[in-house]
Amino acid sequence: MSDGGWEPLRLAATAALAHAYAPYSHFPVGAAARLEDGSIVTGCNVENASYGLTLCAECTMVGAARMNGGGLITEFYCVDGQGAILMPCGRCRQLLFEFSTAGTRIMTSSGVKTMDQVLPDAFGPRDLDRTAATPPKE
Ligand code: THU
Repeated sequence: MSDGGWEPLRLAATAALAHAYAPYSHFPVGAAARLEDGSIVTGCNVENASYGLTLCAECTMVGAARMNGGGLITEFYCVDGQGAILMPCGRCRQLLFEFSTAGTRIMTSSGVKTMDQVLPDAFGPRDLDRTAATPPKE
């Protein structure tokens, strides 16, 4: 743990549930992350009548992180409406990866894991650099 422990993150994610807009799934989600400077940012899911446009809690959380000065995520915690630990969906693992380091830790239903454990061999910013540096084969 970089600092502060998991309990403040659990509480922040649980508090974020109050802002969830989930009239279609009735499945509110709250997310919280600690950033490198020790600050905690939160997010909630925001659904849409056009179901596929739903924003996951991680989505709004990442936006909040950027609006609060940005920085990398050191720890992440996500909860369902019962306050139980929730695994980030595949798309959201990718969102988290963008702002993670090798040391970023994710609270999961089977204990604390690293970003690499929840999204192995991830595609990320470095792949874009590599692609740009690689001449086309044809
Ligand atoms: N949801 C999230 O907010 N984050 C996840 O990682 C998993 C799913 C939301 C999207 C939708 O509003 C509801 O949970 C049911 O899928």
